[in-house]
Amino acid sequence: MGLKIFTWVLLWKLAFSANDGFTFNGFNSANLSLDGLAALSSDGLLKLTNVSKHAQGHAFFSLPLQFKKSPADSVISFSTTFVFAIVPEYPTFGGAGFTFVLSPSKDLSHALPNYFLGLFNMTNNGKPYNHILAVEFDTSHSPEAHDIDNNHVGIDINGLISNQSAPAAFKSDADDQFKNLSLSSGNPIQVWIEYDGIDMQLNVTLSPLWGPKPKGALLSLPINLSSIILDHMYVGFSASTGIAYSYYYILGWSFKMYGEVPELNLSKLPSLPQPLASFEKSKALSIWLPIFLSVLVLVTAAILKLIMMRKEKFSELQEDWELDFGSNRFSYKQLYKATGGFKDKYLLGAGGFGRVYRGVLPASKVEVAVKRISHESRQGVREFVAEIASLGKLRHRNLVQLLGYCRRKGELLLVYEYMPNGSLDSFLFGEGKQALNWGQRFHIIKGVASGLQYLHEDWDQVVIHRDIKASNVLLDSDMNGRLSDFGLAKLYDHGSAPQTTNVVGTFGFLAPELARTCKVTTSSDVFAFGAFLLEVACGRRAIDANKQEIEQVLVDWVFANWRMGKLFEMKDPRLGEDYVEEELVLVLKLGLLCSLPSPSARPSMRQITQFLNGDAPLPPLFPDQPTCWS
Ligand SMILES: *[C@@H]1O[C@H](CO)[C@@H](O)[C@H](O)[C@H]1NC(C)=O
Ligand SMILES: *[C@@H]1O[C@H](CO)[C@@H](O)[C@H](O)[C@H]1NC(C)=O
Ligand SMILES: *[C@@H]1O[C@H](CO)[C@@H](O)[C@H](O)[C@H]1NC(C)=O
Ligand SMILES: *[C@@H]1O[C@H](CO)[C@@H](O)[C@H](O)[C@H]1NC(C)=O
Ligand SMILES: *[C@@H]1O[C@H](CO)[C@@H](O)[C@H](O)[C@H]1NC(C)=O
Ligand SMILES: *[C@@H]1O[C@H](CO)[C@@H](O)[C@H](O)[C@H]1NC(C)=O
Ligand SMILES: *[C@@H]1O[C@H](CO)[C@@H](O)[C@H](O)[C@H]1NC(C)=O
Ligand SMILES: *[C@@H]1O[C@H](CO)[C@@H](O)[C@H](O)[C@H]1NC(C)=O
Repeated sequence: MGLKIFTWVLLWKLAFSANDGFTFNGFNSANLSLDGLAALSSDGLLKLTNVSKHAQGHAFFSLPLQFKKSPADSVISFSTTFVFAIVPEYPTFGGAGFTFVLSPSKDLSHALPNYFLGLFNMTNNGKPYNHILAVEFDTSHSPEAHDIDNNHVGIDINGLISNQSAPAAFKSDADDQFKNLSLSSGNPIQVWIEYDGIDMQLNVTLSPLWGPKPKGALLSLPINLSSIILDHMYVGFSASTGIAYSYYYILGWSFKMYGEVPELNLSKLPSLPQPLASFEKSKALSIWLPIFLSVLVLVTAAILKLIMMRKEKFSELQEDWELDFGSNRFSYKQLYKATGGFKDKYLLGAGGFGRVYRGVLPASKVEVAVKRISHESRQGVREFVAEIASLGKLRHRNLVQLLGYCRRKGELLLVYEYMPNGSLDSFLFGEGKQALNWGQRFHIIKGVASGLQYLHEDWDQVVIHRDIKASNVLLDSDMNGRLSDFGLAKLYDHGSAPQTTNVVGTFGFLAPELARTCKVTTSSDVFAFGAFLLEVACGRRAIDANKQEIEQVLVDWVFANWRMGKLFEMKDPRLGEDYVEEELVLVLKLGLLCSLPSPSARPSMRQITQFLNGDAPLPPLFPDQPTCWS
């Protein structure tokens, strides 16, 4: 205990004394914490990435800096300058980008590469609890992050969608005009990032190396950072590669709390690796033959690279064990063509598991929906693919048929039947869509129950859906409810940390026993089905943070109303007078019955279909209080 306090005090002391700032002209003597691809070269060059693809690297100054005098205070002014260079794999095509980042933790191992830039993952992207401020130097055009182009600078607060961004440029003092800069030119570029704690303004300024600092900033964002930055933060860099790589180099870096950052001594910065320099020299040799030869070599190399790029573009992963599942496999090229190259125009939606595109298979002209799931770990994929092969055999009019899959590095693509009417969720909660009448709702509920009964009881194996909710129910052209995404949640069960089983599913639909046992069963599906019933009958989301606290969790709120004898008041006001009272009450009560805390008290899907079809009467909610209903 004493030792712990002592270390803590020591860290604080260090944080107070040494860390008003630092200047590194090259990183030889720097105390950095590196992870992932990041490495220091012997001459002090910081390399954030190497040739590994779909990977990330981080480099943080190893001690936290104090950004507030006390937790309640506002953020102190700070400024930093650094020199970077980006050398892409292909002249016009490279890694995803790098960022300068302020983070509460040096451990960003949960983050993903590619357009996530080594900062976020699908779960935490955009969430205020991240407390991350980053300035991105983005060299790939990712529609997922609403990128403007493949050569821009942006200010990112807690998420990948920039609060402000602009094509890379600097403002010339001479004529006050912006001059374009190419981030990936391989030439060093200097950056200044300054936050004025009084005016509450964050500025980002770029300039080619050796130029004076331009007076005008490229980005200037008025922002009160007090709720975003915590009192102690780590400062550093993150970078990520995608289907191609770039080398992201940092040559020098200086940082200062309060006041103006000390200038770097540019003549002391380490030099960039050889290939660039030797290219310079070859220009000096003005003999025709070598030039001719090098042009020839370059042209051949370019052609080869184009071929490689094409190969890379359509490359897939296939292993021996997959041969058994041949008939379920689609080629990436086929899917690429089907979706017009995964154009935004064909995007149907983006959800927890990935993005879904509409497509038409080139040969058969069958309309399909293609779901792209980025999935880094190999773990679990094999089992999942085996399961897909068997899931592909499931046939039921209330299930969305899975047609097959394709596997690429870090990515899994699933091909489904196309459902023209989209998800039920958009009809229930979406604006602008016509409200469903009671007849339609009851028909959908019965359909989903029958699909789920088939998964649980009527097929050779028990299939647990794991993520039942309105957004996973799609509507076909006849407005039949069809369950989609069955078993998909399992893919994320095999988390990166093997000792912890992640509970997957959606908050508000997770049965209470899951928190204790982590064991999914058909009854945990029934619990989620209960929440789904209430969503459909009440026209409200299972969890609604915008409501008063007591109303936030729908199941609890319906229970409370039931106790007050006001169950019927919970019906969706959009239904108007158009409903069948007995059916509506049946659905509300059944929703509560399915949501009982004890798994053994919940009915099975077979019983549920019987109740819904009127083939059996609903049992009392609490057997010892048989009169409590209604
Ligand atoms: C890239 O860096 C990582 C981490 O240092 C290392 O494991 C990997 O082998 C490197 N890749 C190549 C191709 O050098
Ligand atoms: C480098 O940082 C670590 C903390 O991550 C600290 O323990 C160590 O003393 C520092 N070394 C120097 C030379 O400052
Ligand atoms: C995303 O990152 C957070 C840490 O910010 C982590 O708790 C969470 O498990 C990660 N999610 C996934 C799906 O990796
Ligand atoms: C911009 O910054 C604010 C924090 O002030 C944040 O709440 C908001 O979501 C950010 N993102 C975008 C895209 O504007
Ligand atoms: C600078 O870049 C922008 C955006 O990429 C482009 O629209 C503009 O034409 C470029 N200007 C010059 C002078 O190249
Ligand atoms: C930020 O930029 C704006 C506009 O270029 C300028 O008025 C302001 O003084 C700058 N603030 C700092 C701290 O450099
Ligand atoms: C900045 O934000 C903090 C915390 O949200 C707040 O207490 C403070 O009043 C804000 N400052 C200004 C000038 O709005
Ligand atoms: C920068 O470094 C060079 C070489 O080490 C040195 O001669 C020069 O005095 C330094 N300049 C400044 C301003 O410190």
